[in-house]
Amino acid sequence: MRYLPKKWWHDAIIYQVYLRSFQDSNHDGIGDIQGIIQRVEYLKSLGINTIWISPHYDSPMDDNGYDVKDFFTVSPDYGTLEDFKQLIHVAHKNQMYVITDLVLNHTSDEHPWFQAAKDPNHPEHAYYKDFYIWHDPKQDKNGENTLPTQWVSWFGGPVWEYVEALNQYYLHIFSKKMPDLNWRNKNMKKALKAAIQFWIDLGVDGFRIDASNHLEKNWDFPEGKPGYEHFSSLPKHHEYLQELGRELFKPNDLLILGESGGAKRQEALQYAGKDSHEFNLLIHFEHCWADGDDTNKKTPGKWAKGTIDLAHIKQSFAYWIDIFKEEGFHTLFWHNHDQPRIVSHYGDDAKYHQRSAKMLAMSLYLLPGIPIVYYGEEIGMTNVDYEQLSDFRDVEVFTEYDNFINNGANHGEAMQALKDRARDNARTPMQWHDGPFAGFSKVTPWINVNGNKTTINVQQQQTDEHSILSLYKTLLKLRKEEDLAYGAVDFYNIEDQNTFNTLVSGKHHDYLMLCNFKDTPIKQPMDTLLDGAFTLYLHNMPTTPQGSSFEPYEARIYRKKSEK
Ligand code: NOJ
Repeated sequence: MRYLPKKWWHDAIIYQVYLRSFQDSNHDGIGDIQGIIQRVEYLKSLGINTIWISPHYDSPMDDNGYDVKDFFTVSPDYGTLEDFKQLIHVAHKNQMYVITDLVLNHTSDEHPWFQAAKDPNHPEHAYYKDFYIWHDPKQDKNGENTLPTQWVSWFGGPVWEYVEALNQYYLHIFSKKMPDLNWRNKNMKKALKAAIQFWIDLGVDGFRIDASNHLEKNWDFPEGKPGYEHFSSLPKHHEYLQELGRELFKPNDLLILGESGGAKRQEALQYAGKDSHEFNLLIHFEHCWADGDDTNKKTPGKWAKGTIDLAHIKQSFAYWIDIFKEEGFHTLFWHNHDQPRIVSHYGDDAKYHQRSAKMLAMSLYLLPGIPIVYYGEEIGMTNVDYEQLSDFRDVEVFTEYDNFINNGANHGEAMQALKDRARDNARTPMQWHDGPFAGFSKVTPWINVNGNKTTINVQQQQTDEHSILSLYKTLLKLRKEEDLAYGAVDFYNIEDQNTFNTLVSGKHHDYLMLCNFKDTPIKQPMDTLLDGAFTLYLHNMPTTPQGSSFEPYEARIYRKKSEK
């Protein structure tokens, strides 16, 4: 058993709501806070107790709210401050917690701080300029002005944008409408802290810290392409996080989920070990892109889909669960709003849709740690069915599409990469029923509903005890009954690329989970695995499976006969 004292979030089962796409209550085509309030009963029935909402702040929505224009107001797209207070009130009344996204690495270029910073004639220019990161142009060999460095933004293209009035560039590691903040500026930090305190005073129970490992940059601005190491995971960002932890997070007993890719054991504990003042839970992405194709130069990086390296996924889970075994809690999730839909990504969203969605849930949700279910995952929502580039909405899509074409991809290849990997795949409207706009809205939504709403929707699955939704409810209930956040796990045959077999230990019973991750049948050594000690408890097949042959994506959970 882990350390005491017990905190409320040790029993958290988190549900991530992508606010723009969950439920539109006022029928303007955009999801909103009242929409979440309308669905609190649904969330309760699912068995979750913590809601994480994506950024709700006023924003020009270049990056759907990750570009904040005012840290103290709710975006009119999403409602009002009164709506927000009501959400907190209703959630708390229903024994649910609310955590919000906190964007600390950058603001919108429309934020008043940046408006003052970029305008030499603004009365407060001198004060705000240093809230951001500026650099003089370099000279090329012909004496022409060029970019300060060749660093590449996460959304493709240079990290530098020129401002003529200053004859300087500002740094943006995401879109050019998202200038990076200067964390070495004390006044900037003070202003951000005031914003954090504002939401704490309104009663939020925690935050998810966006892009946390990018807060510090290499101020020597060395050359490099893409140069990620000069603006990622530099040691000083921990000092900033600790400062926030000491002053704001710990004293208010908040749950802090921190987003940071690339950490290893020691740094992970620094972030979210039991004595850390930074986060409580670390969100990393080591298992999220286990099917890249590095040979594809036309759509490089995350964009090319290859064969799934299942051994890597299992090793990653085993590694991270072990890190936090005595020292905290592992964060359990398949994906968020930045990766494709899991059933399309690691499962099969056509022939074996239901079966593979269930297999993915069964393999994950009995493991130790704190789970995060991504909206729509519980009904097996899939990647988009879009045929036009203009159907996509994400800022990243358009820079990357141009990159693909420049790399020699044709339109079809570029579209396929987007349909497989773009972030919009995980951002389509929640499919509540098979009627107009899937019950998300009464008008055309900001992003098109997936055509498969007729077969994949909440209403249909709510009345079907064999649905994916029903299985999620069963698994989450079992998690609670068996206190699986604190459980232990053994991975069997971790190198094997076909099976995902584990033994998890709960409060009352042990469970053996046997999953076929492949689209072909496999055989499992059942006598050895079961050893006469287990009986079948749950499965994802139309009829009770028997024997050692596992159909494509078949999953079975066996329970140990003897109780503890
Ligand atoms: C990470 C968020 O998850 C992503 O959606 C966003 O675009 C970037 N940070 C920038 O805020």
